[in-house]
Amino acid sequence: MNIDILTVVPELLDSPFSHSILKRAREKGLLNVHLHNLRKWAINKHMQVDDYQFGGGAGMVLMPEPLANAIDELQKDKKFDEIIFLTPDGELFNQKIANRLSLKENILLICGHYKGIDDRIRQKYVTKEISIGDYVLSGGELAAAVVVDAIGRLIPGVLNDETSALFDSFQDNLLAPPVYTRPADFRGNKVPEILLQGDPKKVEEWRTEQSLLRTKERRPDLLSEE
Ligand code: ADE
Repeated sequence: MNIDILTVVPELLDSPFSHSILKRAREKGLLNVHLHNLRKWAINKHMQVDDYQFGGGAGMVLMPEPLANAIDELQKDKKFDEIIFLTPDGELFNQKIANRLSLKENILLICGHYKGIDDRIRQKYVTKEISIGDYVLSGGELAAAVVVDAIGRLIPGVLNDETSALFDSFQDNLLAPPVYTRPADFRGNKVPEILLQGDPKKVEEWRTEQSLLRTKERRPDLLSEE
């Protein structure tokens, strides 16, 4: 899978994809992340990519021209399955969207900055708008990192059996059950007996029950989702 990211602050994204699972995915060639600095398509020698908004008001807006030129150029090499704009007024990101996106071949993520991007780019190029939560970040970069992380680990072959995404919270609309490791007795607090008895069927039943309990307690809204 190829993920191209357009941003005015590529430095913000240097680290998130260079460690742990995403690093392995990139090394295995399962995930290619390409960062593009929007200033490469700046409109003048001052590297300008933003301007004041028409009608007045605080905050700069990313201009249409650098964005359109950047997207046009990137589209010469690849046909993007989705062009996604990260924005607080987008569709709320969740595991289902991550699952669907993990099956795509080429994705372009556009990170807004300042007040956002000229709306004509949203209308002409963007195929999907995603918000990672009901709060405003100073730019789309951290949201892009969240989306790439959530998608990247779902790409077939990235996780091994042990870390399989099948057991994650939110798959099947259930939160994950509690987990324990050694020691079996930590300062008098014991691991549930059933996990120590070595009966895989009973462990499975216990985990399902705990998942349901947790979901009912913490996120009952998930149980009524399709
Ligand atoms: N850009 C700024 N805030 C954001 C959010 N909550 N989600 C996605 N992109 C954003």
